[in-house]
Formats: sequence, structure tokens, C-alpha cells
Amino acid sequence: MLTSTRELLETARRHIYAIGAFNVYNLEGVRAVVLAAEACSSPAMLQMHPSSFKFGGSPLVSLCLEAARTASVPISVHLDHSTAAEAIQFALAAGMNSVMADGSHLPYAENLEFTRQMTQLAHQYGAIVEAEIGRISGTEDGLSVAEKEAKMTDPAEAKAFVAATQVDTLAVTIGNVHGEYKSEPRLDFERLIKIRQNLGEDTLLVLHGASGLPAEMISRSIQLGVCKFNVNTEVRQAYMTMLKSERCAASDADLIPCMEDSIAAMQQVVMDKMQLFGSAQKAHLHQTPYAALLTSALRRPA
Ligand code: 13P
Repeated sequence: MLTSTRELLETARRHIYAIGAFNVYNLEGVRAVVLAAEACSSPAMLQMHPSSFKFGGSPLVSLCLEAARTASVPISVHLDHSTAAEAIQFALAAGMNSVMADGSHLPYAENLEFTRQMTQLAHQYGAIVEAEIGRISGTEDGLSVAEKEAKMTDPAEAKAFVAATQVDTLAVTIGNVHGEYKSEPRLDFERLIKIRQNLGEDTLLVLHGASGLPAEMISRSIQLGVCKFNVNTEVRQAYMTMLKSERCAASDADLIPCMEDSIAAMQQVVMDKMQLFGSAQKAHLHQTPYAALLTSALRRPA
């Protein structure tokens, strides 16, 4: 069921678990996430990084939307880390449920203005927006942020930023990184507590760079209000490792069995994350799109 990102995240936060948002590039990735979600009876998000969004274009967007629509569990479709207003406009017009308007590379005032405009636009489509203040370091799909450019989220700045932009979800930087952790991950939970206190219940918190984070950090983050984790590296690595396996790399290899093996390898990683995030066996807690529409109609003043 194609479901709104707001519904997925609000329900997860209310019941104290988190939704996995998995970066996908192609049919195998999409299928791995949907099969994992169905096998675990879990909600999930399919998300596209700008490079896969650009590469796959509208056929990839349609694939994600159709896979979500025909899945037996709630799934939303999200554009990750977009710095471009045109891409965001395209995603919203195509029917994607949420976008990340990433102005974290901009000076604060420009990030604020970009996020404010994109939030206004997205709300017209009934979609929600994720923003980032502070800056997450690491490397992902050709986007690289050096460690010295990384900046932790300032809790006071976060409060002013959310009030001014009306953004729905905030990606926090508390020591998390994209890609592999080069040393033992260390998350600044005191900072997360202050961010939560400053923002209150209305803003949904997101943690990027969930690949490689130990279980206790995941569950502490959830207890402190994180309701979405982004996962890319571990799933991508499972895919790449399978492509290099004897069966797939053989000169007479057939493509379909290799695709099936890749899907199975990625599906296992995604299922493990769903267990870790507490979203497994939670699909029933989510409203179907029809029930969500009815609830919002009932809430609307006459
Ligand atoms: P990892 O690649 O570290 O899992 O992070 C994914 C991410 O945050 C995508 O936005």
C-alpha cells in the first residue's frame, strides 16, 4: 500500500519504533525492500538518492510507486538529499510522498530560505519535507563531505530553523556519518535530548548513516525520539558482494539467477534492520490510505 510518509513516521513515533528508509537504485533493490517488508510485516520507505534519481529518472520513480502500491504492507516513496528545487518539484508532481530538501551545504540563512520554500511547495502536494542542519560527513554516491566540514546540529539553531521553515522532519547530526564508520561510532545523545526538548513532539527526527550502528545506539536513538533511519551502505555492499560472487561473475552466468541472489542478499540485510528498528510485525498499526483520508476528513473543520 502506498502510504504517506507522515502517517508512517507519526505512527512509528507514537509506538516507539522507527521506519527504515532504504536507498534503492533498480528493480532488484526495490524488490528486496518490498519482499523484506512483506516477510517481516513491516512498514518501510523506498528512497532515491539524487544520483539514482537522476540516473533512473521517471521509470525508476514509477517502479517505486507501483511497487509500493501493490505491496501488502505500508510503504512510502521519498527523495533523499535533494539540493535542487527542480528535482523536488518533479518528485512531488510524480506523486512521491516526501522529499529531503538538503540545504546543509548552504549558509544558515540560505538553507532556511530553501527549506521554507520547498516545505511550502511540498505541503501543497500533501507531502512532507525533511531538512538537515549541521552537516553529516562521509561519502555516498559521489557526494562527499569531508570530516572537517561536518558540523553537529545545534539544538537552539534547530528550534529557530523549524519554527521559521515549518519543516516536518529534521535529520540530526550527532556523530553519525554516511558510509562506513572509520572508527567506533559515537553518538552525542545529550545533544539529541536537547534537540528533542527544543523541538517538541511535532517535529519528526531522522538519523542518517544507520549502516554500522550497533543495536544499543539504534534503540537509544528510538527511545529519544528518532523515528526514521536511513540505510544505504550495508544494502549496497550486499548487492556488490553478490555481483562479485562466483555464480554471478562466471563467464556463462545467467542474469536472472544473479538478480535473484542479489535480491535475497539485500533482503536479508533489510530484514535484519527492520528487526533492529522495531518495525517488524508493526504493519497492522498503520492506517490504510483510505482510513487515513477518512481520519483527516473527520479532523477538518466544517
Ligand atoms: P549509510 O550509507 O551510512 O547507511 O547512510 C545512508 C543515508 O544516510 C542516506 O541518506
